[in-house]
Amino acid sequence: MEQNKTQKKIDFDKILDQVRVFAPATVANMICGFDILGFAVDSPGDEVCMYRSAEPGVRIRSIQGDDGRLPLDPDKNTVSACVKMLLEKLDLQDDIGVEIELIKHMPIGSGLGSSSASTVAGLFAINALLGNPLDREELLPFCVEGERLACGHGHADNVAPALLGGITLIRGYEPLDVIKLPVPQDLYAGIVFPQVDVPTRDARQLIKAKVLLKDAVTQWGNIAGLIAGLFQSDYDLISRSMHDVLIEPTRAILIPQFYEMKQIAMDNGALSFGISGSGPSVVAITKGQEIAQVVADKIQEHLVANGIDSFKYVSSVNVEGPRVL
Ligand code: HSE
Repeated sequence: MEQNKTQKKIDFDKILDQVRVFAPATVANMICGFDILGFAVDSPGDEVCMYRSAEPGVRIRSIQGDDGRLPLDPDKNTVSACVKMLLEKLDLQDDIGVEIELIKHMPIGSGLGSSSASTVAGLFAINALLGNPLDREELLPFCVEGERLACGHGHADNVAPALLGGITLIRGYEPLDVIKLPVPQDLYAGIVFPQVDVPTRDARQLIKAKVLLKDAVTQWGNIAGLIAGLFQSDYDLISRSMHDVLIEPTRAILIPQFYEMKQIAMDNGALSFGISGSGPSVVAITKGQEIAQVVADKIQEHLVANGIDSFKYVSSVNVEGPRVL
């Protein structure tokens, strides 16, 4: 990230002593839009409590819910590293000190944007503590840097919806150009996380660098169809369009019972089914909450029968994004 300082007026008397923020999990790729589409969900999500301290610098006080997997070193933890980056950009690193408590409410390496939710919560918290000198769009490049630290690649399809809420399209990366898309009222997600670990870094390395032109044509037709479907709240068009011929065939092998789960989802009325982010979570997109619940329940029953533990979540699209609690 370029290191030019950003001049923003900070009223030091109005800096808060503490703030608590929730940021949502996300379903990146939205099945057919690898690295360019994603949406936020109501739950799960992560929380950050941030406390102002007299001593300048950024420190991690505690992390809960990570089974000791995340680093407490403020330079290695993506939340604190991004908060430091933001303070440096505002030229406040010698004036402001903060301590961070991170409370994780979702599994790491699950394909639900776990690192993004934490990073977004941290950046939203420091911005709120300082009196909101930056708007959400200005926070986005810091969030993308957090993603780069977390998995070695700065994709924005988790952090954009986690930060901006709703469904987002990354129209371009250089420069970053993010478009918010309309959210059809009855669009729901039934998400199941089979408890196997699939780090995004590994799941990205599997993907083929080159694709066939005929597959690319199929995929961009589907992406365009999905976007038209979202604008028109046309659930049939959304259903016809949400297919992934590029990434799913490769990544599905990392997810136990993937095709059996897909069959259950489609047999029980889902509009579409696929991998959430880089997996192993899977998502059924449905019209209405009831179908999402039935599909998630039946998939979980199937996993139990096959000796696989899982968590499930049913959610509408979260249009709010992060919030101060
Ligand atoms: N678009 C990214 C990927 C999301 O599929 O690798 C990672 O959660």
